[in-house]
Amino acid sequence: MPATPLTEILTDFRSYRPGNHRDFLEAVRDFAQSCGIKSFALEDEMSAALYLRALDQVRDFRWRHWCFTREYILKRTMYPVATGGSPIVTWLPNQLEAVLTQMAEVSSHCGAVFGTRDIMDVVHSQREVLRKEVAKYCREREVTAA
Ligand code: HEM
Repeated sequence: MPATPLTEILTDFRSYRPGNHRDFLEAVRDFAQSCGIKSFALEDEMSAALYLRALDQVRDFRWRHWCFTREYILKRTMYPVATGGSPIVTWLPNQLEAVLTQMAEVSSHCGAVFGTRDIMDVVHSQREVLRKEVAKYCREREVTAA
C-alpha cells in the first residue's frame, strides 16, 4: 500500500478488528516481508502469474465492495463521510486503485503466461470506470479527488 493519509486510515481501522483476525493478518504480513514474497515471485514468470492471481482476488473483493458502496450509499446520500469516518468517495477507491497499480507492475513480469491478458483487460476497464465514477461523485459533493 502507498503511504498516503488515506492509507493511514486503513491502519487505524485494523485496531477495530477481532484480535485473532488481526494476529493472523499481521503474521501473514510479517512472513511476506521477511521472505520478500514479492521480489521472489517476480523472479519467475509462472510465480509472477500466480502472484498476479492473488492480487486479482483482492481486486475482485475491492471492486465488489466499491459497487456495494456506490449502490447502497453514494446513490442515496450526498453526505461525504462514511460510518467509520473515512472520506466516502475517495477512500475505498484509493485502496482499489493501489491494487490495480500493483497488478499493472506485476503483469509486466508474467511474459506470455496464459490468462494474464484476460485479467489485465478487466484491470484496465475497471480503472477507467473507477476514475470516471470518482470524478463524478467528487464533483457532486464538491470534494477533491485524492
Ligand atoms: C452493502 C454492503 C457493504 C457496504 C455498503 C460497505 C461499505 C463500506 C464503507 C463505506 C467502508 C469505508 C469505511 C468507513 O465506514 O468509513 C467499508 C470498509 C470496509 N468494509 Fe465494507 N461494506 C459492505 C460490505 C462489506 C463486506 C461484506 C465485507 C467483508 C466481507 C466488508 C469489509 C470491509 C473492509 C475490510 C473495510 C475496510 C476497507 C478495506 O480494507 O479495503 N464490507 N465498507
